[in-house]
Amino acid sequence: MRRLLIAGNWKMNMKLDSAKALAQGLKDAAADVSEVDIAVCPPSVYVQPICEILKGSNIGVGAQNAYFEKAGAYTGEIEMAMLTDVGCQYVILGHSERRHILGESSEFINLKVRAALAAGLCPIVCIGELLKEREAGVTSDVNRRQLDGSFSGVSADEMKKCVIAYEPVWAIGTGKVATPEQAQEVHADVRAWLTDRYGADVADVVRIQYGGSVKGGNAKEILSKPDVDGALVGGASLKVDAFMEIINNVR
Ligand code: PGA
Repeated sequence: MRRLLIAGNWKMNMKLDSAKALAQGLKDAAADVSEVDIAVCPPSVYVQPICEILKGSNIGVGAQNAYFEKAGAYTGEIEMAMLTDVGCQYVILGHSERRHILGESSEFINLKVRAALAAGLCPIVCIGELLKEREAGVTSDVNRRQLDGSFSGVSADEMKKCVIAYEPVWAIGTGKVATPEQAQEVHADVRAWLTDRYGADVADVVRIQYGGSVKGGNAKEILSKPDVDGALVGGASLKVDAFMEIINNVR
């Protein structure tokens, strides 16, 4: 049985005071939640203080990106081992905002996925099609290409430690959520990709989150689908009540 993972992607939002208050508020509000896994992914500069607040709690901390090289002359970058050093357990990689705004390719993301695994982090690897790709009927091709590229060279044992987040780009921050059926169709296709490539024992344990305009009111229906194993939440993760509503509706 796969445990649901509800992760908040705070993106480039909030100042330190509100980030700390959100972490403390969630820590208190979620103290009795044991049925699902929870994580928050603050901006890099806040990862350490948020790790300190959430230390010993049932809420994990993730970064939103990091670099693949080991420590050295890489101005402006953060090493995976720096994240584990401050108590971080997850790292979001290949988010569509990085693929499309920052121009990250699946090959580049792959280097980071492997570096994250080598450092002992759990990568949350995002994939997802654009609206025009869905309309052109190439959703599966696009997602499978991103999977092939992002997980190239990743072993079966390593794959078991990864989380995949299916985030249709047209549903991110738009309020236009995929229907539970649309989500399930792609999640089942991702699971089939996992089975083809790694076998059923790996496919059975890898969690596939859905992301894109998830909120309290729609989470339960989407996450009740058999291949939807959690949510990556943007906007609705920025307030204690909104994030807790999602958690409480799916636990
Ligand atoms: P959203 O963002 O919930 O605001 O649509 C999701 C994400 O980008 O991870």
